[in-house]
Amino acid sequence: MISSKELTNNCLYLVLATALAGCGSNNENAATDPDQAPGPQQEHPESVLQATMTPKPDTGRWYTNAMVEEGKATFAQYCAACHGDRAQATPDWKTLDENGNYPPPPLDGTAHAWHHPLADLEMVIKQGGAPFGGVMPGWESVLSDQDIVKVIASFQSYWSDEIYEMWLEREKLYREYRMGEQD
Ligand code: HEC
Repeated sequence: MISSKELTNNCLYLVLATALAGCGSNNENAATDPDQAPGPQQEHPESVLQATMTPKPDTGRWYTNAMVEEGKATFAQYCAACHGDRAQATPDWKTLDENGNYPPPPLDGTAHAWHHPLADLEMVIKQGGAPFGGVMPGWESVLSDQDIVKVIASFQSYWSDEIYEMWLEREKLYREYRMGEQD
């Protein structure tokens, strides 16, 4: 039998996508269209909306090594205590703890963070787990949008190419659907 907790977890992606669709009228990114933005802005996107999926020369991925390095410092300070110093915790992430909560999952590509597009990862990081019955604190008042983009880059840097490519395919589909981007 599926517990309601499991259902909540499985529905996270859908719930987030729906929640995001609710903010659809906010089309302020027209002025900062990534495809029209000059190079430097693309290399240091200020938010997930500004990030483009164009492979960057130093990584072959959407983020640069500089972003990863800065993101790692943020991760070490705010996230590693729960998610592990290399985003590897908790290996047994599918087992509820003694309080009936899920432990912090690995973000290194071995759990399911790669199922989520950037916009949803950003939302979980900002709001924490509370809206979905989880226990992670929200970071909206602590981290800037730019910090969050970099922290996502930092844990994605642990993902294998195979996982990254699967994620990228979803991200692109999501962008086409959400923003009409052909990136
Ligand atoms: C106090 C422990 C704790 C801290 C600190 C913490 N997290 Fe979490 N995180 C969790 C837990 C627990 C979950 C599982 C969902 C829930 O219960 O809220 C989670 C879930 C997530 C998810 C969703 C993963 C998925 O597979 O869907 C992401 C992304 C995430 N955390 C990123 C971060 C980042 C980035 C930071 C640092 C800015 C951070 N977390 C700090 C405990 C924590």
